[in-house]
Amino acid sequence: LLASSTSPRARELSKITMPIVFNEPLSFLQRISEYMEHTYLINRACSLSNSLERMQAVAAFAVSAVASQWDRTGKPFNPLLGETYELVREDQGFRLISEQVSHHPPVSAFHAESLSGDFIFHGSIYPKLKFWGKSVEAEPKGTITLELLKHNEAYTWSNPYCCVHNIILGKLWIEQYGTVEIVNHRTGEKCVLNFKPCGMFGKELHKVEGYIQNRNKKKLRAIYGKWTECMWSVDPQAYEDHKKSEKKGDNKTKKNKTENDEADDMPEVLETVSVVPGSTLLWRIESRPAHSAMMYNFTNFAVSLNELEPGMESILAPTDCRFRPDIRAMENGNIDEASRQKERLEEKQRAARKERAKRDEEWRTRWFQKGTNPYTNSEEWIYTGGYFDRNYQNLPDIY
Ligand SMILES: *[C@@H]1O[C@H](CO)[C@@H](O)[C@H](O)[C@H]1NC(C)=O
Ligand SMILES: *[C@@H]1O[C@H](CO)[C@@H](O)[C@H](O)[C@H]1NC(C)=O
Repeated sequence: LLASSTSPRARELSKITMPIVFNEPLSFLQRISEYMEHTYLINRACSLSNSLERMQAVAAFAVSAVASQWDRTGKPFNPLLGETYELVREDQGFRLISEQVSHHPPVSAFHAESLSGDFIFHGSIYPKLKFWGKSVEAEPKGTITLELLKHNEAYTWSNPYCCVHNIILGKLWIEQYGTVEIVNHRTGEKCVLNFKPCGMFGKELHKVEGYIQNRNKKKLRAIYGKWTECMWSVDPQAYEDHKKSEKKGDNKTKKNKTENDEADDMPEVLETVSVVPGSTLLWRIESRPAHSAMMYNFTNFAVSLNELEPGMESILAPTDCRFRPDIRAMENGNIDEASRQKERLEEKQRAARKERAKRDEEWRTRWFQKGTNPYTNSEEWIYTGGYFDRNYQNLPDIY
């Protein structure tokens, strides 16, 4: 299933235009703000005095941050260069600003901070899409950093791969896989999580499993569950014993996979997470709104992201996604208008780029600047501050 990324069959998708019916009415900038849905887990980490307990909360947050992908097969709109998105959630205690800082390659930078000064959370995401014939795989390049300011601690990690199956034929479904390594740079503790590929018989579908280890690689806790369901933590020895006893009881009544050249069907999910005695629940997913299936399978959090409430228009930056006419038209169910607007915006973006080239002018980002992540030494776009002073002079006219 996991083809090597050097295969010539893989085609870069970022340059191919897909019909709008494959979209969901959100910009990718809005989609990445969904990392914040379970901000209560960061707040929990901030409140804990023990670094092992903090790591458990951060690991749960890292898994919960990609849980909204479940059943979300719609493609978010590619942000336009200079597009921004802000999200202020006083109820959850944070505010976030993001900006599309590069077009080729597409890079989205975000910066979130707690309103009480407890944490900052930031990163630059470069979703590299590959087309494998029957599926599209997104490699979410870019490091994510969570800084717990009162603990003087920084955690970094990268998200798992995300694959949408059956893009040509059959029923679309989502798989996430790969290793996510969360590092606490102060203590040297690590949480290494394995998002498992579903495997031949689908037994591993959605499973996540791993360990927290100290700087000497001693296993301190086992972390397990499903990214679509819940995550638990338990003593590592208890976890290994439990796994052994489960293997013994396994009756090997594995279902034969139906052979089908046309589509790779999603394996049936037969069982929920089997809980090891003595485990602590770290996180459980919330159910989606009743009408979710009619709304691109959005979560409660996602449903609110494009809302333009009275009074917001005069506060938001004119580059905010909520003003994008194509996304708005799609949200209102006007697909033809959405398609026309999308084409117009892309043409406007091309014309602006040509104009800059003619004048030998470089694009200048507004709220982020290229810099170095001090913990990983990797290149990153760093928030330069000031967005919430709301001085919007000299912003580009992108819509
Ligand atoms: C929503 O989820 C259902 C159930 O899994 C699926 O059949 C459908 O394709 C999904 N819709 C979108 C837009 O992702
Ligand atoms: C294994 O199969 C036997 C006979 O079919 C059954 O009685 C037993 O309960 C099964 N065990 C498990 C763990 O499924």
